[in-house]
Amino acid sequence: MERATASACPAPAGAGFFVPSSESSRRHLTGLEGVPRETLLHLLDGAKRYRERLAGGPWQSDALRGIAVCNAFFEDSTRTRLSFELAEQRLGAMHVTFGETGTSVNKGETLLDTMRVVRSQGVSLVVVRHRSSGTARFLAREIDASIINAGDGAHEHPTQGLLDLMTLRDAWNDRFEGRRIAIVGDITHSRVARSAIAGLTTLGATVTVCGPGTLMPAEVEALGCAVAPTVEAALEGADAAMALRLQRERMDRGLLASSGEYARVWGLNPARVALMKPDAVVMHPGPMNRGVEIMPEVADGARSVIFDQTANGVPVRCAVLSWCALGDAEAAL
Ligand code: CP
Repeated sequence: MERATASACPAPAGAGFFVPSSESSRRHLTGLEGVPRETLLHLLDGAKRYRERLAGGPWQSDALRGIAVCNAFFEDSTRTRLSFELAEQRLGAMHVTFGETGTSVNKGETLLDTMRVVRSQGVSLVVVRHRSSGTARFLAREIDASIINAGDGAHEHPTQGLLDLMTLRDAWNDRFEGRRIAIVGDITHSRVARSAIAGLTTLGATVTVCGPGTLMPAEVEALGCAVAPTVEAALEGADAAMALRLQRERMDRGLLASSGEYARVWGLNPARVALMKPDAVVMHPGPMNRGVEIMPEVADGARSVIFDQTANGVPVRCAVLSWCALGDAEAAL
């Protein structure tokens, strides 16, 4: 298969999980690459406890009372921004949210100076989404605050990765070993795919990717996955499928003939998902382009866990926020 020349790892190697340095006791979550299995399971167990609390009726805690959180979203978001804000409110944190519009970034202020301003206001935890790969790791080095990556360019989206793991843990009865997922579509530009591959392979699942050659990074196998030549080959006998959105905002022109052609060759339709195991599930990180990467009858069909993924957003973000903000004290929650 002819491949695009983009690197499989658009951010610097090791730009994933950021272990607190000796100079700082702060915890950061900048990626799932390199996060130990025990930490992943700890965060997933925490998210499950938060989900049970939230399911029990109105619930709010003061675990993060007095802690100021800033949600800095320099790219559009519905799911991630709302679920971080709701998680912060559930945990009793003070929180503010801003984006590129309506701030002094538009007057030429650098990202670093903006974040220094944020830190000077007493914020100790920053949730950041930015178009540039490596932004979260950069801020973790430069700012004395915990940094949570809410999606940086084509690098990682670790809290999306965790809610995908949580959804699969439910579907797979707590066992990742011996399970296989097919991730279909625009792998080159997908931070969701990178976080999913990192987390799933650490927990013992097998990942097969497939998609147009122009949207498949060179040396993608270095991420720990196999590559299938067709969507049918990837889906045959799989335990789950994840369709990816075409990331047109990150694409150069000419990478795709047309949306219709993409849907015909790579779209998840009923005949294709029937190739998976009978209990296999269908996922999509959202936002979906119905009729392009996923057909409506699949998105709304019996196998779909797409809105289970979004429902896991608040519990996962509660777990990550408390893990980052409270350090070792979080274990007592
Ligand atoms: N999956 C995801 O990151 O969605 P949003 O862009 O709506 O946050």
